[in-house]
Amino acid sequence: MKLLVTGGAGFIGSNFVHYVLKNTDHSVTVLDKLTYAGNVHSLDALPEDRFRFVLGDIGDPAVVDALFADHDAVVHYAAESHNDNSLDDPRPFLDTNIVGTFTLLEAARKYGRRFHHISTDEVYGDLELDDPQRFTESTPYNPSSPYSSTKAGSDLLVRAWVRSFGVRATISNCSNNYGPYQHVEKFIPRQITNVLRGERPKLYGSGENVRDWIHADDHSSAVLTILEKGVIGDTYLIGADGEKNNKDVVEMILAGLGQPADAYDHVVDRAGHDLRYAIDSTKLRSELDWRPQFGDFQTGLADTIAWYRDNESWWAPQKDATEARYRAQGQ
Ligand code: NAD
Ligand code: TYD
Repeated sequence: MKLLVTGGAGFIGSNFVHYVLKNTDHSVTVLDKLTYAGNVHSLDALPEDRFRFVLGDIGDPAVVDALFADHDAVVHYAAESHNDNSLDDPRPFLDTNIVGTFTLLEAARKYGRRFHHISTDEVYGDLELDDPQRFTESTPYNPSSPYSSTKAGSDLLVRAWVRSFGVRATISNCSNNYGPYQHVEKFIPRQITNVLRGERPKLYGSGENVRDWIHADDHSSAVLTILEKGVIGDTYLIGADGEKNNKDVVEMILAGLGQPADAYDHVVDRAGHDLRYAIDSTKLRSELDWRPQFGDFQTGLADTIAWYRDNESWWAPQKDATEARYRAQGQ
C-alpha cells in the first residue's frame, strides 16, 4: 500500500512511520506543516525508496487533493495536540483539528480513499479516581478542554462522512502515549529533560491525576491492525492497562535518573484539569486480536529516559522556549 500519513513529523506520527517502514512493505508519504511540534529530524535516515516528506497544511485543499489522488489509504495524525496551549490560544485547534479534518474528509470522499482517524480518550471527559468503570466505545462524549472538544468535533465529522457520504473510515481513541520523539512540552519528556538539565520536575496541583500510559509502538501496532482488519464506520479504543498517577510517574523518573524521590516541585494546576482517564480496550483485543507488546511501563519508561539522555541534540532546541512559556504561566 501507498500510505499518506498526516502529522508524521510529530511524536506519534513519526513513531508510526518508523514502525510501518520497519514492519511492513508499505511505502509512506508524510504531509506535515512543521508547526513548533513538528521535527523533520524525527524522520532522519528512513529508506529513500519508500519514504517521502511533503511540507504542507492539511487545511489546504490543493495540496491534499493531489496527495489523495496518489495514495491508497490515509492515516490522520496531524493536530494541535497540547491541552495547555489550547487554554492559552484555542484558535489553531479549531483550524487544524476541525477544518483540517474536514478538508481531508472531503478529499477521502472525492477519491474514495480508506481513511483512519487518530483520536484521543480525552473526548470522553474524565473519571473519578475510585470509579470502577473505564471508557468504552459507548461512553458518551463529554470533552473538557478546547483541545479535547475539537478532537471530539473531528471524530463526529468522520462519523457523519461515513454515514452521509459512504467514506470508508475508522476511528481510534487512544490513551496517553510515551516514547521517543515526544515534544518536551508534554509531561514525561518535560520531567526527564528537566532532571537531565539539573532542574526539578513540575507537578500540576496535587499530582493525584491519573493517566493510562501506552508506548507509542503499541499505539502504532494497533493502528495498523485497525487499518487492515477494522470494520468501516467503527470506533476502537486503544489502551494497555497502564494507569498511573502523575506523582508516581515523577518518582519513577527521579529514581531512573538517580535522584531523591521528593526532588520535585508542585506548581499551579491546569485550569479544568481532567482527573483520570482509563481505557477498556476489550473490543480491539477480542474482535481484532490485538495485544500490546510493552506490558511493563517501568521498562518502557527506562528506554524513554535513555533515549532523551542519548538525544539531547534532538530536544535541546525546544527546551528554553518551552520552559519560558511555562514560567510565564507559573508552571
Ligand atoms: P504532536 O503535536 O507531537 O504532532 C502533531 C504534528 O502535526 C506535528 O508534526 C505538526 O507539525 C503537525 N501539524 C499540526 N498542524 C498541522 C496542519 N495544519 N497541517 C499539517 N500538519 C500539521 O502530536 P502527537 O502527540 O503526536 O499526536 C498525534 C495525534 O494523536 C493527534 O491527533 C492527537 O490528538 C492524537 N493522540 C495523542 C495522544 C498523546 O498522548 N500524545 C494520545 C491519543 C491521541
Ligand atoms: P500532558 O502530557 O499534557 O497530557 P494530557 O493533558 O493530554 O493528559 O499531561 C499529562 C498529565 O501530567 C496531566 O495530568 C497534566 C500533568 N502535567 C504535570 O503535572 N506537569 C507538567 O509539567 C505537565 C506538562 C503535565
